[in-house]
Amino acid sequence: MHYRPKHFPNMFCLMYRSKANPNLGGSQIAEILEKARRNNKQKDITGCLLFYNEHFIQYLEGEQHKVMTLYDRIQQDDRHFDITLLSSTQIEEREFGSWDMAYENLFGNNCQLHYLKLLVSSFIDDADSSYGLNPTSIHFWKATKKLLEDHRKLSDS
Ligand SMILES: Cc1cc2nc3c(=O)[nH]c(=O)nc-3n(C[C@H](O)[C@H](O)[C@H](O)COP(=O)(O)O)c2cc1C
Repeated sequence: MHYRPKHFPNMFCLMYRSKANPNLGGSQIAEILEKARRNNKQKDITGCLLFYNEHFIQYLEGEQHKVMTLYDRIQQDDRHFDITLLSSTQIEEREFGSWDMAYENLFGNNCQLHYLKLLVSSFIDDADSSYGLNPTSIHFWKATKKLLEDHRKLSDS
């Protein structure tokens, strides 16, 4: 596993939501992830991508200029559309330091997933895109990280 220092000068994060192109299948998502992980490792960008109800929610963190440049590129990608920036802010440390790009397809039935689905729905449904990274979104990404850590432990055991 590739662990990075959590602290970094000029550390920045952003999150956005988008609608997936209706023709997008599992193999195309796998392609996105493969490329994302390769590129992000090189640029020291970490984060998490969630897929739920034909929507993506992505959280990116790393050096500000690198994250903004990547976000510009992602916005031009025709595999998704209606891209809305939900929040962006400077951060003290990474949340997803050990993931080049974590991924979760929120499809399934356990309680934790149910809870995350509710939170994701609120980000998808909220028409107001002007709010900053607030306690809810921080809480959301922490809950997501916990879920992914549990999955990783299960698959390692
Ligand atoms: C929902 C979504 C998330 C993406 N996330 C990333 C990412 O985290 N990192 C990345 O390099 N590319 C990501 N991409 C792909 C970029 O839009 C772009 O295709 C890719 O960075 C081009 O890489 P290349 O110039 O090396 O070919 C994402 C695309 C989509 C649709």
